[in-house]
Amino acid sequence: MPTLYLRSRPSPRLRSHLGRNSRSMDARTPEHRNYWDSFYAGKRSGAVPAEPSAFARWTQRRLSPSQPIVEFGFGNGRDSLWFAREGHPVTGYDFASSAVSQGQDRAVREGLPARFFELDLYDSAATAMVAERTAGLGSPALFGRFLIHSLEEAGRQNLFDIAATALGASGGDLYLEFRTGKDQGRKHLFGDDHFRVYLDPTIVENELVDRGAHILHTEAGHGLSVYKTEDPHVARIVAAWTT
Ligand SMILES: C[S@@+](CC[C@H](N)C(=O)[O-])C[C@H]1O[C@@H](n2cnc3c(N)ncnc32)[C@H](O)[C@@H]1O
Repeated sequence: MPTLYLRSRPSPRLRSHLGRNSRSMDARTPEHRNYWDSFYAGKRSGAVPAEPSAFARWTQRRLSPSQPIVEFGFGNGRDSLWFAREGHPVTGYDFASSAVSQGQDRAVREGLPARFFELDLYDSAATAMVAERTAGLGSPALFGRFLIHSLEEAGRQNLFDIAATALGASGGDLYLEFRTGKDQGRKHLFGDDHFRVYLDPTIVENELVDRGAHILHTEAGHGLSVYKTEDPHVARIVAAWTT
């Protein structure tokens, strides 16, 4: 799938290209979506903590009050709902419809300023529209925890295109946390029955810089995302497109 660098509103020609591109999306997309949809619809997701991740708490200390948050791949909503409780207007996107309906129900029940939508990051036409919508938010923080190691390359490139378009237009930062190559082959408490890619942080940084990003923060190591007996080797990257 070609990489598309979207910096402004797509032209009609580009829109038609995006349409063709999305129709020829990776054949494994339904397999990935089915896995995550069943995971959040079933009992296994009950093991995911409801409290915010250490990465969300770390990110919160860097945000301005009321800064809009856009979370991609929010899962059980632990971080999105917490950001909303902390007073941030939140928009969440995930391709698992079970995650979207549960997140939306919780936000309504608690009266939180959070809205959740279905988005498949492999769908280039849909991601181009979300990029335009996100550009209108005014300096949001885009947040993805344990997302990019769950994506095949095409999804990661579409996510980075959203960030370049939206944050290039209006400012704001991109916050990512993901498993690195040093986590490969280690014991994973949520199993190894689903897709993961163990990413080299330097490659991720280069992909962002190639789209015009400045890297504001990068670190990698253990102790950043401990879950019970699992202490994975993860990276955190913060990037921005405006100074
Ligand atoms: C490992 S879980 C992380 C969930 C949550 N961020 C957390 O830290 O608990 C990965 C999430 O990414 C979502 N995801 C994976 N591929 C996606 C895609 N192509 N488009 C949108 N969401 C996707 C999954 O549905 C799942 O919610």
